[in-house]
Amino acid sequence: MGLQNLVLIAFTVALVDGGSAFVQRNATHFILNGKPYYLNGFNAYWLMYMASDPSTSSKVTSIYQQASQHGLNVARTMAFNDGTYRALQISPGSYDETVFKTKNIFWCNFYAYIITINHFLVVGLYFGECVVMLSRNNTITGKIYKDDQTIFAWELMNEPRVQNDLSGKSFQVWVNEMAAYVKSLDSNHLLEIGLEGFYGESMPQKKRFNPAGFQSGTDFISNNQLPQIDFATIHLYPDQWLVGFNETAQNVFGDEWVKAHIEDSSDVLGKPIVLTEFGFSSKSYEYSVGKRDNYFEKLYNMIYSSASRGGPCAGGLFWQLLAGDMSGFGDGYEVIFGESPSTTNIITQQSKNMFNIK
Ligand SMILES: *[C@@H]1O[C@H](CO)[C@@H](O)[C@H](O)[C@H]1NC(C)=O
Ligand SMILES: *[C@@H]1O[C@H](CO)[C@@H](O)[C@H](O)[C@H]1NC(C)=O
Ligand SMILES: *[C@@H]1O[C@H](CO)[C@@H](O)[C@H](O)[C@H]1NC(C)=O
Repeated sequence: MGLQNLVLIAFTVALVDGGSAFVQRNATHFILNGKPYYLNGFNAYWLMYMASDPSTSSKVTSIYQQASQHGLNVARTMAFNDGTYRALQISPGSYDETVFKTKNIFWCNFYAYIITINHFLVVGLYFGECVVMLSRNNTITGKIYKDDQTIFAWELMNEPRVQNDLSGKSFQVWVNEMAAYVKSLDSNHLLEIGLEGFYGESMPQKKRFNPAGFQSGTDFISNNQLPQIDFATIHLYPDQWLVGFNETAQNVFGDEWVKAHIEDSSDVLGKPIVLTEFGFSSKSYEYSVGKRDNYFEKLYNMIYSSASRGGPCAGGLFWQLLAGDMSGFGDGYEVIFGESPSTTNIITQQSKNMFNIK
């Protein structure tokens, strides 16, 4: 989701299996302790924000308990609003210690319009933030973040788009520099970009899969081909991306979008792929719980079908999980386990399916 100004570097934290070793990549699979590793997870951009205040930190404890109960093993979460209440970075280069003192720490936050503004200043700031994060001692685990096995992967930026350079050249340079830099600081963890998955100039024939001819200045193929990038990601919001199209057209788009990217991950990239965001908004004009359930089920089946046949799709993370009594955080996409029994069952079944893959 485009959370304006919530700028972000996100990362994912393994909840259940994490802690014993670093998850690694072998060709198109994640590997943990010598075995393929699959994900079923959720987005919760609010974790660090809620963890930073003792009056709300119980929401974080609660969500981890609930997630474990439903078999979820990965959370994707984000850094903060800059310069506002509970900001991580209070001013450039200056960080709020109380916010850092949370287990679920969040990395370099950053401006979504990165390349469009003062490139050098911004890059300098980004470098500084990476160093701050990676050398930080996690006060709960007593580990420096780069040595912390509960972190599944780092993500460079949430949903980068570079509308002022649709050739994709600026962005390719940026990813190349940042990825090399992050890996130089932390070679233990997996790294991904945070892409939504739009195709670009490296394979122009694939642009037909983009929503209604959309161009983003990013390039699913060439960006993910960079050797420092361990796996590909896509997001999927047909209701937002194809406004004014009918339901059938949105469904066809979604099916083709997922299928094309899984095929490319296998045939072109030779890397795993994760659906790091998908959801169905109750504000959508065609919403019903049944439709959301069908949509989740369809995507989960595509993920499982790839994973169970040895394909590159390793899992999906729905947008977004909330604990109860968090109405201010609702955006229409929220799933609250206690309030959505049918959706909860589908999510739980997917955990069982994914973790039973031999
Ligand atoms: C890594 O992949 C290769 C072939 O793709 C396979 O032969 C090997 O067993 C895999 N290693 C692990 C640890 O899974
Ligand atoms: C991090 O802090 C803990 C607790 O203060 C300490 O025991 C540990 O040695 C520190 N770790 C590093 C790598 O400095
Ligand atoms: C939906 O839109 C597509 C074109 O985008 C059109 O071909 C199709 O007939 C429409 N279906 C319905 C049920 O209106």
